[in-house]
Amino acid sequence: MSTEHAGRAQHDDRTRHDDRTRHDVRTLTDPAQRRAAWDVFLQTLHRGPVQDEPWEAHGQAPDEHWLGAHTAGEVVGCAFSFPTRVTTPGGARIDAAAVSGVGVRADSTRAGRLTALMRAQLTAARDRGDVATVLRASEAAIYGRFGYGIASRAEHVSLTPRPSWRPEAPAGGPVRMLDAAEAAKVLPSLQERLAADRPGGMTRNPRWWRRALSPAGPTASDYKGIAVHTGPDGADDGFAVWGVREADLGRDPGDDITVQQLWAGSPAATAGLWAFLAGIDLIRSVTAWARPRDEDLGLWLVDPRAHRVTGRDDELWVRIVDPAAALAARTWGAGEPVVLRVRDPLFDHWSGTWRLGPDGPSPAGDASPDLECDTAGLGTVFLGDRAPSTLVTAGRWTEHTPGAAARADRLFDVGAPVPWCGTFF
Ligand SMILES: CC(C)(COP(=O)(O)OP(=O)(O)OC[C@H]1O[C@@H](n2cnc3c(N)ncnc32)[C@H](O)[C@@H]1OP(=O)(O)O)[C@@H](O)C(=O)NCCC(=O)NCCS
Repeated sequence: MSTEHAGRAQHDDRTRHDDRTRHDVRTLTDPAQRRAAWDVFLQTLHRGPVQDEPWEAHGQAPDEHWLGAHTAGEVVGCAFSFPTRVTTPGGARIDAAAVSGVGVRADSTRAGRLTALMRAQLTAARDRGDVATVLRASEAAIYGRFGYGIASRAEHVSLTPRPSWRPEAPAGGPVRMLDAAEAAKVLPSLQERLAADRPGGMTRNPRWWRRALSPAGPTASDYKGIAVHTGPDGADDGFAVWGVREADLGRDPGDDITVQQLWAGSPAATAGLWAFLAGIDLIRSVTAWARPRDEDLGLWLVDPRAHRVTGRDDELWVRIVDPAAALAARTWGAGEPVVLRVRDPLFDHWSGTWRLGPDGPSPAGDASPDLECDTAGLGTVFLGDRAPSTLVTAGRWTEHTPGAAARADRLFDVGAPVPWCGTFF
C-alpha cells in the first residue's frame, strides 16, 4: 500500500471510529424505541431480545422515564427509571427515581455513553422534583463516580430444613398460601405498609409486581410459592415469595428453596414465615439473597449454625440530587449542631452548606464547615447504614473541627431499624 493510500485508510478508520463514539442522549417516547432500548439492555446482560408476551404483559406506566444514547440513528445505550418513594429514618418518604435497565452495547462501551445517560437522568430527576435517585448495582465499581453511595447492605443466608427452634422463638401465626391472582390483590398494599417502617423501604409499581408474580409454569424452575402470615389481630403482617432450584432426581433428597421476597411486620411474622419455609416437605435447603442485617435467626435456633450468613453485599445505592430536601426529610437525634458542606461531583451548583441540629437542617450560606462530604458520602450515611465518624476514619468525609464527627454521629442516629430496601429492580 502506498503511503498516501495508507494515510487515507487511517483517516477513514478514524472517521468511522469518531462516528461510532459520537452519541446523543434523548428521551424515548416511542414504544418501538423503548422496546429496542430494552433489547439493548438485555443484550448487555447476555440475554436475547424480549418476547412479545412478557413485553406486552408487563406493560409500561406513563410516568416511567426512558433515556436512549443514539449513535448513527440507533439506540446503543439506555437508562430507565420509574417513580418510587423511599422511607427515611423517622418514617417520611422521599420522591425518588428508581434506576434500572442501564446498559451500553458491548461495541459502544467506554466512550462516555453511560456518563451522558447518568448526567441526563440526574438532571431530569432534579427537574421533576425528585430528592434522590436509587439503584441496585450490577457491579459496585460503576456508580460511585456519579455521586452514588451505598446506603444499605444486606446478607445472603441459608437455613437448614426443619431446624429446632428454641422455646424463646416467637411461635408465629397461621400461614396461608396464595395463587398469583390472590397475591396481586394482597401483597402490594401489605408490602407498601411494611416498607414504611424500614429506612430504605421503597414503593413498587404494578409493572414490578406483574413481573415478580408471573404465574407459575409446569416445571419446578417456573414454580412460584407465595404465602402470607396473619398476626394475632387477624390482619396480614408478612409474606414470602419463593422459587425452587430443581433437585437432581435420584441423587438429591429434595429441591432448594430460594426466597425471593420475605417481609415481616413483627418478630412473630419473621419466625413464622422462616419456620414455614424451612418446614416444607421435599426440600434440601432454604437460601435467601440480600436479607436485612438485623434478621438474626440464629438467636432463635437450638443449633445457631443452622442459619448461616454466606455473604454480604451492597444493597441500595442512593444518589442525593437535592441535599436540602433530603436533609429535611429525615429526623435527627439529640446533640450539638454541626455545619456540613455537601459537594456534588457532577453539578457544583447543587452543592451547599447546612447547619444540622436536632430540629433539622437550615442553610448555612458561607459558614465554614465542621464537616465536608460529597453526595456519595451523604448517601452512605443518609439512611443510617454507616455513621459519619466511620466515613471520617475511612477518609471519605473530612472533619475540619475536632469532635464534629462524633457530634454528627449523634445527630444522624435516631434509633431507626437497620436500613434495607428489599426490592430488586
Ligand atoms: C456499565 C456500562 C453501562 C458502562 O457504560 P460505558 O458507556 O462504557 O461507560 P462510560 O464510557 O460512560 O464510562 C464512564 C467511566 O466509568 C468507567 N466504567 C464503566 N463501566 C465500568 C465498570 N463496569 N467497572 C468499572 N468502571 C467502569 C469507565 O472506565 C469510565 O471511567 P473514566 O471516566 O475514568 O474513563 C456498560 O459497560 C454495560 O452495559 N455493562 C453491562 C451491563 C451493566 O452492568 N449495566 C449496569 C446495570 S446496574
